[in-house]
Amino acid sequence: MVLAIQSRELYIGYEVEESATLWVVEKLGIEVEHKTTFCLIGESGCGKSTIGNAIAGLLPPYARTRGQLVIFDKIVIDRDKRFFNGVRGKIVVKIPQDPASSLNPFMTIGKQLSLAIKHHYPNLSEKDVVNKAVELLEEVRLDKAVFNLYPHQLSGGMKQRAAIALALVPEPKIVVADEPTSALDAYLRFAMSTLLKNLQKEWELTLIFITHDISVARYVCDKIAVIYAGRVVELGKAYEVLESPRHPYTELLLESVPRRLSRKRLADIPGMPPHPGKYPPGCKFHTRCPYVFDRCRYEEPLLIFLNSRAVRCWKYYGYSA
Ligand SMILES: Nc1ncnc2c1ncn2[C@@H]1O[C@H](COP(=O)(O)OP(=O)(O)OP(=O)(O)O)[C@@H](O)[C@H]1O
Ligand code: SF4
Ligand SMILES: [Mg+2]
Repeated sequence: MVLAIQSRELYIGYEVEESATLWVVEKLGIEVEHKTTFCLIGESGCGKSTIGNAIAGLLPPYARTRGQLVIFDKIVIDRDKRFFNGVRGKIVVKIPQDPASSLNPFMTIGKQLSLAIKHHYPNLSEKDVVNKAVELLEEVRLDKAVFNLYPHQLSGGMKQRAAIALALVPEPKIVVADEPTSALDAYLRFAMSTLLKNLQKEWELTLIFITHDISVARYVCDKIAVIYAGRVVELGKAYEVLESPRHPYTELLLESVPRRLSRKRLADIPGMPPHPGKYPPGCKFHTRCPYVFDRCRYEEPLLIFLNSRAVRCWKYYGYSA
């Protein structure tokens, strides 16, 4: 088994005032096997994009880190230092949520692809550059006529595909897709999920898929990490986590989305997730958890491993799967 990504006790925060850091992600320990799809799910503000940006080497300069992050065999974050040269934009790329942000409105898609191809493959002839650009358009199921179009002439779904084609130019091994379907309607969401699922298989990618959408996660992912208040609270094979959630937060998260069969929307999770800097003591979910008991209020649970699953909840302490 080849590991594409490993984090060890990784902390990520943002410097808010001189020498004051708001830690957003804490104690992150994940291992992502190469050529698999790993999903991050959780409510808004729980730190999903922060983790995605850390993996993609796109944390802002005022971000702070502790612990370690390893991409293949290279340590890219070591305590407070970051070493992404040769990794960022080559081995790891990010597909942005908003495709317009990565496309230049004043250049045709063909021109943008050609410039990126020339940057990464300076020895290719003009003809080969154009051929490669057209091939990439085909890879993302866009007609070659798109080569001569400007971004404003494309629909939202087509722009997203063009942004994916641009991201694929360096032939990355790891793709971070941050909410790639959230701006799309239900039909396009399914089409985009299918495209990413197929690209992951065909290009043998490690795909980090960040989403709010559990039905998309169910369809696309091999493994899921459920994130709450910057921590992994449940980790496991996607179908196991989604079919039989163990952490109370995962349970409630799944109940709060419309079930495919009943279409009934169950109650949202009561209360709001805590803001970084205001995480409560003990279990970070205790203020919203229906199963809370005394110990939860003052002592934070460790990740408890139950066969192929890991759960951060005192309910499972001393429990054997
Ligand atoms: N560049 C930044 N500078 C300062 N704080 C940030 C920055 N990016 C994120 N944060 C803060 O970190 C916390 C986690 O944000 P993040 O964007 O990682 O969450 P998320 O799970 O991706 O949320 P969403 O589902 O809304 O995209 C939030 O409180 C946010 O305000
Ligand atoms: S540790 Fe306690 S409060 Fe936290 S999820 Fe488990 S039961 Fe709920
Ligand atoms: Mg986000």
